[in-house]
Amino acid sequence: MDDTDLLDILGDGAHGYFAGGAGDEITLRANETSWSQVRLAPRVLVDVSERDPSVTLLGKQRPSPIVVAPMAYQKHVCPDGELASARGAARTGSGYVLSSQTTTAPTVVGPEVSDPWFQLYVFRDRQVSLDLVAQARESGYEALVLTVDFPVAGWRERDKRTGFRVEHPVALNLDGPPLTTEELFALHDPSLTWDDIGAFAEAAGMPLLLKGVLRPDDAERAVDAGAAGIIVSNHGGRQLDTVLTGAEALPPIVDAVAGRADVLVDGGIRRGWDVAKALALGADAALVGRPVLWGMARGGEEGAVAVLEQLHAELDSTLALLGVPNARDLDRGALVSQV
Ligand SMILES: Cc1cc2nc3c(=O)[nH]c(=O)nc-3n(C[C@H](O)[C@H](O)[C@H](O)COP(=O)(O)O)c2cc1C
Repeated sequence: MDDTDLLDILGDGAHGYFAGGAGDEITLRANETSWSQVRLAPRVLVDVSERDPSVTLLGKQRPSPIVVAPMAYQKHVCPDGELASARGAARTGSGYVLSSQTTTAPTVVGPEVSDPWFQLYVFRDRQVSLDLVAQARESGYEALVLTVDFPVAGWRERDKRTGFRVEHPVALNLDGPPLTTEELFALHDPSLTWDDIGAFAEAAGMPLLLKGVLRPDDAERAVDAGAAGIIVSNHGGRQLDTVLTGAEALPPIVDAVAGRADVLVDGGIRRGWDVAKALALGADAALVGRPVLWGMARGGEEGAVAVLEQLHAELDSTLALLGVPNARDLDRGALVSQV
């Protein structure tokens, strides 16, 4: 996809922050290529006149397996910020996760989407995180997504070069001038451990998902700690460069979890057939990050809708051409080789 216009729209600082990854961006690039290396093996002569992309997540039927990933500071992408992505999700039947670094209040975004999820970072000031959990609960969010791959920020050279400064995330009640991303990320609590997860699961009072798990042993630990779901993710290649990709990490995690919790995946999902591959490898749903932002940068809410509509149309076409009309029937039998 030609994205040379994005640098003009966003400017160097914001473009570097939103598009960039950690280190040499090896994982950032691998995220996309590893989905393309999974090969589909279509069945012919199957009646595909009716297709159904719906899946079950957290025990509830959803119209779509596509979920908009939590992404920070969306008002730097378009004036409506999180309202644009949330409305885009609602209009296309996609799931939605609001970042705790949102630039629009959770109370304002929540009512725009059915069953929104709230993403949480644990800050050094634990009370700030607990207040966020209470806000999410009171605003009717359905689940809490605790991101666990961010004890410290990744080594992001584009941000170091530009010194990009961000609007204060509304939920954190910060005063003073805009902070650099590095200053904001320094608020995260690097001492968070498994011992803390139970307390957050309890405080949540709603299903808890852990986001940023890449190892089967950690996935099992998450289930044992009470997680209702696991999001297999390397944070869009923004944390530790050269780590494995979602496509690579997913199959062993699905096997280890063995149906005891939902498993979602993200990173580099750009096409409807990538979503089908994620489901075939055992995911219950797939999160999409940057493509939604690029739609918003170009056309606000309408741009987000256009991106999500195309992903759904591609998924529909994939279900037909693959000979698996119901997304919930996708399994590894639809694939030639596993990564
Ligand atoms: C600009 C940007 C901001 C992000 N902010 C958050 C965040 O606040 N919380 C979080 O858990 N993940 C965050 N992520 C990671 C995404 O939720 C997701 O894991 C990743 O973007 C998926 O990869 P993709 O962009 O290749 O689709 C962010 C990603 C980007 C690109």
